[in-house]
Amino acid sequence: MAEDRIRIGIIGTGSRGINNIGQHVAEQSAALDVSVTALCDSSQERLRVGAGQLNAAAVAAGNAPFTPALYADAADLIHDDNVDLIAITTPTSAHREAAIPALESGKKVYLDKPMAHTVADAVAIRETELRTGNPLIMGFTRRYERPWLELYSLLERGVIGELRMMLIRAVLPYSRYFHTWHRNRAISGGALNDKGSHYADVFNWFGRGRAVQVNAFGGRHVFIPRDDTPEYCPDCDDAGCPYRAVSAEDLSTDYRHGAIDETFYQGSDALHRKDQCVYKPGADIFDHASAHYRYDNGVVATIFYNVYGPRADDEETFELVGTRGRMILTRLRGEIDIVTDYPERRHEVIECKADAFETSHFGADRKLIQDIAAFARGRKLPVDGSEGLEATRVILAAMQSIDAGGRTIRMADVPDVPGP
Ligand SMILES: NC(=O)c1ccc[n+]([C@@H]2O[C@H](COP(=O)([O-])OP(=O)(O)OC[C@H]3O[C@@H](n4cnc5c(N)ncnc54)[C@H](O)[C@@H]3O)[C@@H](O)[C@H]2O)c1
Repeated sequence: MAEDRIRIGIIGTGSRGINNIGQHVAEQSAALDVSVTALCDSSQERLRVGAGQLNAAAVAAGNAPFTPALYADAADLIHDDNVDLIAITTPTSAHREAAIPALESGKKVYLDKPMAHTVADAVAIRETELRTGNPLIMGFTRRYERPWLELYSLLERGVIGELRMMLIRAVLPYSRYFHTWHRNRAISGGALNDKGSHYADVFNWFGRGRAVQVNAFGGRHVFIPRDDTPEYCPDCDDAGCPYRAVSAEDLSTDYRHGAIDETFYQGSDALHRKDQCVYKPGADIFDHASAHYRYDNGVVATIFYNVYGPRADDEETFELVGTRGRMILTRLRGEIDIVTDYPERRHEVIECKADAFETSHFGADRKLIQDIAAFARGRKLPVDGSEGLEATRVILAAMQSIDAGGRTIRMADVPDVPGP
């Protein structure tokens, strides 16, 4: 083994841990000199299946298979001497219990977004990061996605003048939030936390300021609880239901849109199953929201969001309005539409897809692994726990506002950790 090789341990061998992170490590292991030396999952069955999927990806890419140690307990992986970097991809409520000892171990830590399901957990992780002087890297994928990086560069170059307004429009075909553990706030912090933490981070990044107040509205339009449906999709004979969970065997679709492998529908535990009926009672998350922020530099920002949208190539757009024009990024098309009026009218569409655009998160996960490898070798990266905490504060303040019927929440009243 080369001395410089980065040895990665993954805690949580589910969709994100294996089908995104693991897949891109497996594909780039030789090029980046990285390997997966340990895996941990609380489900033995998922651990076995995840390890198999990981090695199938390595072999398919022409790389050597891995021989990872398999653990049921995260502490054993964290203290394995064969691990240099710990990647945490467990459900969100389990981030804290892994992130704190991982940071304390002194090893490099990758933590997936959202940082936590509560502000208290995000504060605890951030405090540990500061106390240990061990900055983690957060998995805000848009920070690694080429069109978003290009958009930021255009903004910095003054193409639309001074930024005044931001709008993220997310009309998403993400009924899967009601199939999985995301349906419980006690685990996910809400579907809005899961998806909206990306958007809050984008606002904080592009806005170059701090949110000072938010008000928001939301609730349930479509996924209203019913007591006349079976608990799980395979037990349901409504073949025409547009919100049926898709299994991996019916893979005319792909994992991005929620296809699930056998581990997640044969298990008996509702926590692990990804084929719960969207109408099954017990979900306590929103299926739509509209949130409005004011930043300390006068910028205003809006999230317009639902998870019952149709599949469409404009399902997620990000619009920036400045004093001299506007830009709209259309994520699924990998393009930026620019209109400026001053000093002369100009309309331009820039195509800026990343190389591996068809892979997970439009090529961002591939780049993320390259950045994780650089981070493990000592390069400082822009997204650490301070961005993770701020995004959690900003998005959970919107949920607090929705719960309070749209009342304005002052960010000064949301717990925070002072900078170093
Ligand atoms: N960066 C992104 O864009 C992105 C995309 C998808 C998911 N995520 C995040 O990744 C995390 C995982 O999501 P997922 O979709 O992969 O979930 P998943 O359910 O597919 O996988 C989670 C895995 O963790 C295991 N697990 C649960 N508790 C555990 C514990 N205490 N110790 C060890 N293993 C445990 C489960 O058995 C499961 O296999 C979430 O926080 C999610 O928000 C981020």
